[in-house]
Amino acid sequence: MKKGFFLLLVGLLSATMTIRAQDNSMTLRFDEAQHVINKNIYGQFAEHLGRCIYDGIWVGPESDIDNINGYRKDVLEALEALQIPVLRWPGGCFADTYHWKDGVGPVQDRPSLVNVFWGGYLEDNSFGTHEFLNLCEMLGADAYISANVGSGSVKEMVEWIEYMTSDKDVPMANWRRENGREKPWDVKFLGVGNESWGCGGDMTPDYYSNLLRQYSLYAKQYDNSLVRVGCGPNGDDIHWTETLMKNAGRNIDGLSLHYYTIATGSWGNKSASTGFDEALFIKGLKQSRRMDDILARHTAMMDKYDPSKRVGLMVDEWGIWTDSEPGETALYQQNSMRDALIASTTFDIFHKYSERVQMANIAQVVNVLQSMILTRGDKMVLTPTYYVFQMYSRHQGATYIPVSLKTESYSFGDDTIPAISGTASEKDGKVSVNLSNTNPHKSIKVTVDLSSGSVKKVTEASVLTAPAFNSVNTFENPDVVSSKSFKKYKLSKGILEVVMPPMAIVSLAVE
Ligand code: AHR
Repeated sequence: MKKGFFLLLVGLLSATMTIRAQDNSMTLRFDEAQHVINKNIYGQFAEHLGRCIYDGIWVGPESDIDNINGYRKDVLEALEALQIPVLRWPGGCFADTYHWKDGVGPVQDRPSLVNVFWGGYLEDNSFGTHEFLNLCEMLGADAYISANVGSGSVKEMVEWIEYMTSDKDVPMANWRRENGREKPWDVKFLGVGNESWGCGGDMTPDYYSNLLRQYSLYAKQYDNSLVRVGCGPNGDDIHWTETLMKNAGRNIDGLSLHYYTIATGSWGNKSASTGFDEALFIKGLKQSRRMDDILARHTAMMDKYDPSKRVGLMVDEWGIWTDSEPGETALYQQNSMRDALIASTTFDIFHKYSERVQMANIAQVVNVLQSMILTRGDKMVLTPTYYVFQMYSRHQGATYIPVSLKTESYSFGDDTIPAISGTASEKDGKVSVNLSNTNPHKSIKVTVDLSSGSVKKVTEASVLTAPAFNSVNTFENPDVVSSKSFKKYKLSKGILEVVMPPMAIVSLAVE
């Protein structure tokens, strides 16, 4: 009797375990694939803030740090390898205090300004329009300029456009030639103000939408090819979005949106970027998942005024914002395995809304917030987030394949999130699959059903994981969290079984 009961129990347990194992699955719906994931979702942002521009990108031609015409060589090479599609500059809050004429011409003649938003340090304007646009050319990235609406004027903006893009015999283009650049640059995107609801002028949506119409009109007259991006909401501010779309939707090509992950949910009380506990690990991941709901609400609102989806939603600032590292410059934070998972799962969300989301720019590229690269003196280290960008790069410009996902949960304390996240796309006959396991304690087998496609073999497989959820790469130990080759998968008859290590991101190419 006792033995029979024991056998029954074992039977029940193994049946439950089988059901659980089957619960973690992702089915690719090839027949519903319709639109392309805009490569600009993998965009970057560089602001005159802390050590992003100076020290991070630009050290000047006289520096002892190895440089190419003033750009750090190590950073340049790392960014080239990342194939950045678009780079946003000069801010951020800085943009609405920036007067571009101070940043062109002989360096010794350029006046300084106080960077009022980021610690009041003296900005010497040695990195200006030429330095930025030449950088974009070197990186093969499209330029995304944020024009000053908060403390600038239409005249200042259109003169800047003329300076950058005109090939005619006109005053600003001639001044550019005098300053050493004969042909115009190719500037693709123009942001009309930044956070106009806050640091960009503290405006109401009605007031800003009138300004947006005015600035947009003249921007288009001076350069018809410019993609004009209006300042969108702060996170979930749907009223801002509705007012803008209603009043100025037809005057713009894109609307921005900013959403930052604050692990504790409160600005005054953020998480540290190192040494945080599991409660802050899961809270960070949970907060970042709010992006899904925010995009759902905002795309629905944009659909109401722009059903043909002409106006792109540009998430031109996103990422985790932690406390700055002690003794460091403004907004310098470390970057952990948590942040890598925030990046991967956020990309999964961007892909889901990629019919509307046409651009995203993580904040920021070097030494600020959730950066790709950290520098100290002549040293440089790649962050876990850098590797995520690499592991997702095949999705740039690929056709999005909708997925059906079944996943168990991961819980800690009062917080619960899905354990598995994933995404898929197809380009040139190659299917790219990315999976993330957010559970730091448990390996999880995921069944990926590719049977409605025609795939035969896995051609590339890599994994990013770490000894702990708060592991970081340091100048002393730069490879604690870096991508490695991955072998724990099996493909048979269109079914791919992937054994996800705890807290891991896996990238697979299947043909
Ligand atoms: O990225 C840092 C700051 O965050 C930007 O300057 C501003 O636009 C946002 O509030």
